[in-house]
Amino acid sequence: MAQRKTKQTSTPAPETNNTSNVGRIPTPSDIKAFLDQYVIGQDEAKRVLSVAVYNHYKRIIYNQNPNRKMDIEKSNIILLGSTGSGKTLMVKTIAKMLGVPCYIQDCTKITESGYVGSDVEECLVGLLRTCDYNVAAAQCGIVMLDEGDKIATKGAGPSITRDVSGEGVQQSLLKIVEGDLVGVPPAGGRKHPEQPLIYVNTSNILFILSGAFVGLDSIVERRIGRTRIGFNVESIDMSDCDNVNSLVTPQDLKDFGLIPELVGRFPVIAYTNKLTEDDLIRILKEPKNAVIKQFSELLAMDNVELAFDEAALKYIANTAIDLETGARGLRTIIEEVLSEAMYNAPEKLNSSEHTVLRITEEEVAKRIEKRYRKMLDVKKTA
Ligand SMILES: Nc1ncnc2c1ncn2[C@@H]1O[C@H](COP(=O)(O)OP(=O)(O)OP(=O)(O)O)[C@@H](O)[C@H]1O
Ligand SMILES: [Mg+2]
Repeated sequence: MAQRKTKQTSTPAPETNNTSNVGRIPTPSDIKAFLDQYVIGQDEAKRVLSVAVYNHYKRIIYNQNPNRKMDIEKSNIILLGSTGSGKTLMVKTIAKMLGVPCYIQDCTKITESGYVGSDVEECLVGLLRTCDYNVAAAQCGIVMLDEGDKIATKGAGPSITRDVSGEGVQQSLLKIVEGDLVGVPPAGGRKHPEQPLIYVNTSNILFILSGAFVGLDSIVERRIGRTRIGFNVESIDMSDCDNVNSLVTPQDLKDFGLIPELVGRFPVIAYTNKLTEDDLIRILKEPKNAVIKQFSELLAMDNVELAFDEAALKYIANTAIDLETGARGLRTIIEEVLSEAMYNAPEKLNSSEHTVLRITEEEVAKRIEKRYRKMLDVKKTA
């Protein structure tokens, strides 16, 4: 077997039919180690995704071998988790590591043929665009079907589900996610009979259906409760489980409003956890491109050194928790906190002295209070 390269940062999409090429795919632990540099926490999701991605690319190599014993089927992934918890970040980071094209399709933009909106094939047009219409590269790419919970059918799940065409969209996704030769109009939009099409084979494209799936937790809890009462079996100790999403079964996804055929094509279920105060503080400081590192670099160009007190970071993390936007809110808060400093910083260029800009908890509170306090107070009383 070829020598396995560890900590690889760019792996071309596997193309040949030599099984020894498996050595060119980073192992699950390589993938996780790469993710660790950018994504804080979410260990369980990182592990599940790393294995699924590793298997996906091994499968491609295996299925190209003319002497293979069987065809190995594709395992697309469902990724559940609250907003701003790192779902998109993880998928993009994996694609970056593997050097494969990746496209994020917002499922709320897709409608069933005949309705106003985009056809499901639009995700393949998007994928082709990300790699300059290199069909071979696109055929080994990753498509993230974001807001996938919004195509659940009405009536099955709680109120978040959309109109009746949700089922139509799910139906039209079936062939594409399973593997099909799909003709797509190069410029996107709806197909016209006389239009030349680009044909994309989707059998080696990895599809990741992701979303917050609000309300899925109550479906799981109801199921567990029902089991307890109905069959009097040993009750599941929920105190052991800090994330109900870890208990999600395919049946729960069906009860939520995904059609059984679609659930069957996404056999891997991964989930992210809500980010804690500690996670959010680490997100501010630790990732390779952490927000604070980015602003430190910008201010360093003005000879200003940025130094945040721990209490200030804690305050910022807790404001982000109150805003319920996960880590997404952190950057906005930091922008707010540093806006005055960034206005004044260029003046420092006139003096050659090195200045330390220390950000205290009081400073953060003063700046944040103005913009967010009212909003947070309204939330608390609601
Ligand atoms: N676990 C994490 N580690 C590091 N940064 C994170 C993490 N989670 C979120 N972030 C930061 O927050 C931003 C938003 O995260 P991301 O886009 O991955 O959220 P999401 O889970 O896809 O949310 P949504 O459901 O709203 O799409 C990222 O660009 C990143 O900067
Ligand atoms: Mg996202």
